[in-house]
Amino acid sequence: MTTYPEFPKNFLWGGATAANQCEGAYNVDGRGLANVDVVPIGKDRFPIIAGKKKMFDFEEGYFYPAKESIDFYHRYKEDIALFAEMGFKTYRMSIAWSRIFPKGDELEPNEAGLAFYEDVFKECRKHGIEPLVTITHFDCPMHLIKEYGGWRNRQLITFYERLCRTIFTRYKGLVQYWLTFNEINMILHAPFMGAGLYFEEGENVEQVKYQAAHHELVASALATKLAHEIDPNNKVGCMLAAGQYYPNTPKPDDVWESVKLDRENYFFIDVQARGEYPNYAKKQWARDGIEVVMTEEDLELLKKHTVDFISFSYYSSRVASADPEVNEQTAGNIFASIKNPYLDESEWGWQIDPLGLRITLNIIWDRYQKPMFIVENGLGAVDTPDENGDVADDYRIEYLREHIKAMNDAINQDGVELLGYTSWGCIDLVSASTGEMKKRYGFIYVDRDNDGNGTLKRSKKKSFDWYKQVIASNGSQL
Ligand code: BG6
Repeated sequence: MTTYPEFPKNFLWGGATAANQCEGAYNVDGRGLANVDVVPIGKDRFPIIAGKKKMFDFEEGYFYPAKESIDFYHRYKEDIALFAEMGFKTYRMSIAWSRIFPKGDELEPNEAGLAFYEDVFKECRKHGIEPLVTITHFDCPMHLIKEYGGWRNRQLITFYERLCRTIFTRYKGLVQYWLTFNEINMILHAPFMGAGLYFEEGENVEQVKYQAAHHELVASALATKLAHEIDPNNKVGCMLAAGQYYPNTPKPDDVWESVKLDRENYFFIDVQARGEYPNYAKKQWARDGIEVVMTEEDLELLKKHTVDFISFSYYSSRVASADPEVNEQTAGNIFASIKNPYLDESEWGWQIDPLGLRITLNIIWDRYQKPMFIVENGLGAVDTPDENGDVADDYRIEYLREHIKAMNDAINQDGVELLGYTSWGCIDLVSASTGEMKKRYGFIYVDRDNDGNGTLKRSKKKSFDWYKQVIASNGSQL
C-alpha cells in the first residue's frame, strides 16, 4: 500500500444519495406524487426525462423503480449505521419536496414528512455524521407540473421559498450544509427531471428552458438569503454536473467549441457564484431571440446572495469538436460528448479520467475562488456476488483510488480549497439515467434487481473496508 499526503484536517469524507433513488415509500405518510415517480425503466425513460414524451401518471405496462427503490424510508437506521461504520463524516442526501408539501402549493406542510427527515438528521448526528442536504434533487411535485407547468412558471419561486423557510426553520441546528438544486445545468438536457418541464408541439424550447432556469436561479438566491437569515451558521452551495471539455485537436475552431460548451455549463455557476448574468449569455440570447423575463429585484437578489461554496458531480471529462464529421459519441451522464480515444470506459460507456478531475478542480477554483465540494463521483458497474454472497469490487476500488489521488494532487500540489468528497450511491440505488438497479455504485450491496425482485438485504462489498481505511487515514492509505 502506498502512503499519500493527508487531506486537510476536518475534510468531510462521505457518500451521497438522492431521495427518489433510495427512499421508495412513494405514497406513504401523505407524500404526494412527483415527476421522479412517473419515470419508468426502459426505452421511454429518456424521452420522458427530456420533456419530449408526456407521462404525468403511472401507466399500464411500465415498471416504476422509484416507487419502492431500496426502501431507505423504512431502513434508514440500518443504512446510516453502516455509513457510520465506514467512518462517514458527512452524508449527502436530499429531501423529497412532496413529502413536505405533497402538492407543492399548500400553505401548511405535512408534519409526517417533516418528522421523517428530522429523525434521519438526528440519526446522522447520533453517529457524528454531518448531513449535507440537497433541497431538490431532480424532484418536483406533479401537482406543480400539471397546474403550473413546472419551473417555467414564476410562482414556483414562491412555493420553493416556502419549502426552504419551512425546512431551514425546522432543521435549524441539525443541518448546516445545503445545496439548492442538484446539477442545475441538467435543466438543459433533462428538463422534465431537472425542472418539471414538458414541451408542447411547436414551443420555443430554449426560451422555456432559460426562463425556467432564471426562476431556479432566483429561487436559489432566495434560499441562500433565507438560510443565512435563519441561521448564520448555514452554508449554501450550488451544484453543477461538471467535467471539463477538451478540444478534440489544437485547431483553434475546436478550442473555441470547447470554450462555448464549457460556458453552457458554467453559465449557471457564473450567476450563482458571481451574482450576475455573464455577457456571453446575454449576447447569445439576443442572437437566438430568447427573451428572459426578469425584474430589477431578481437581479438584486442574484447579486446580493451568492453561494458560499461550489459543489459538483464529476464522472468524466468531455471532448468538443467544431468538425461535424467528428461525431463518434460516448455515453455520458445524460449529455454525451465526443469519444476520447485516450480513455477507458465503464460498462455503461462513461469514460474514465481521473486527471480530468484534477483539471476540473483547478479550473473551477481559478474561475471562482470559492471553496469546492465534490458531492458525486463513482463507478456504475455490474456487481456479481459469489456463492457466499460476497462482492469483490476491485474495479470500483481502482476507480475511486485514482480519483482520490487526483483530488489529493489538486489540494496538496495545486492548492485548491476542497471541503469534502461524497462518493455517489454509497449504497446501491436506482440509476437516474436508466432506472436500473443493475448499475451499482455502492460500498453496500442491496439485493434487488431491475424488475424489483429481491430481499432488499444489505451486505458489505470489498470496497466497504477499503473506503473505511481511506477515511480512517484521512486519504493517505489508498
Ligand atoms: C448524477 C445525478 O447525474 O449522476 C444522480 O445527480 C445520478 O442522481 C448520478 O444517479 C449517476 O448517474 P446514473 O445515471 O448512473 O444513476
